[in-house]
Amino acid sequence: MKGLILSGGKGTRLYPLTYTRAKQLIPVANKPVLFRVIEAIRDAGITEIGIVIGDTGPEIKEAVQDGSQFGVRVTYIQQEAPLGLAHAVKISRDFLGDERFVMFLGDNVIQGGISPLIAEFAHHHEWNSQIVLTEVEFPEQYGVARLNGEGRVVELIEKPKNPPSNLALVGIYMFDHHIFEATEAIKPSWRGELEITDAIQWLVEHGYVVYPHIHRGWWIDTGRPGDMLNANSLVLEELTPEIRGSVDSASEVDSRVTVEEGAEIINSVVRGPTIIGRHTRIVNSYVGPFSSIYHHVVIENSEIERSIVLEHSIIRDIPTRIQDSLIGRHAEVTVNTLRPKALKLYLGDYSQLGLL
Ligand code: TTP
Repeated sequence: MKGLILSGGKGTRLYPLTYTRAKQLIPVANKPVLFRVIEAIRDAGITEIGIVIGDTGPEIKEAVQDGSQFGVRVTYIQQEAPLGLAHAVKISRDFLGDERFVMFLGDNVIQGGISPLIAEFAHHHEWNSQIVLTEVEFPEQYGVARLNGEGRVVELIEKPKNPPSNLALVGIYMFDHHIFEATEAIKPSWRGELEITDAIQWLVEHGYVVYPHIHRGWWIDTGRPGDMLNANSLVLEELTPEIRGSVDSASEVDSRVTVEEGAEIINSVVRGPTIIGRHTRIVNSYVGPFSSIYHHVVIENSEIERSIVLEHSIIRDIPTRIQDSLIGRHAEVTVNTLRPKALKLYLGDYSQLGLL
């Protein structure tokens, strides 16, 4: 089997963080979501992986390179515009050939990996496709599947007003080569995209066999900032803590904290689950649970909790606790001591600032 990761798209819902960065490269528990996806596919025994890229392709290529750092071989497939998930499949035909494949959205995080799904699909040669479904509270916000008495998929409905079940599509799909007939046959939707739900619906209507795998753990599409923070909390809960940096005797670091190489914790309190990245300095500060502080960050005389801070940022002398926040790269959050005393802001487009 081969793997196909979709890593194009625009990431508008994560603006402003994704103005300057591919959303798949935003780290969750200090590891880019895309790296987690590659590792999940590799751990399921698949080493030939195609990555569909768009405008942010150069950045993704620079981070992933030929895949050898993960023990896989990566082929890049350029998509001229984000014309839909089924369009991404259509343009990957040369890479995929006639092999069965798993397609994984490059911004999704799933608990427990995908080895069981891959084994199930590999075992059932008579299945043309397997989709992953999970129970959700508000199925009307998702693509929802209707199953028949023997558990086979008979219909997929995008954001149904009267959902036939509470089983929503998760961003992982398995197909054989018949999917290319579907991607050729379907037409763009109202939003101008070739939809993967339409392609799967086409398979069902043309007598191909589509079965679901019901996923029981958590699954997160990291499309919006709140989802990113949720994914971060869930992944941090599963991290095996390790102290590789230095913690001075005046600091208090609990047992669920990971401190990466070269990081320094000085006269501070750090509560887990939390990760402090390489060469980051935490000085006279409090870092609360569910925080991921990436590499080369400085946090001084400040308090932060349940937040993600990206590389090379500085947080200094902030008098109130920062919470539930996403702070981008090279950001500076400091106190203005010069007169006139006023807020001094250089905020990117679509920034959100919640003052007390
Ligand atoms: P989406 O989250 O549906 O789209 P998006 O990335 O454009 O985000 P937003 O809605 O915030 O603007 O995409 C899911 C994944 O699939 C994501 O990793 C991007 C990728 N993708 C492609 O590679 N090609 C495409 O044509 C589309 C629509 C998405």
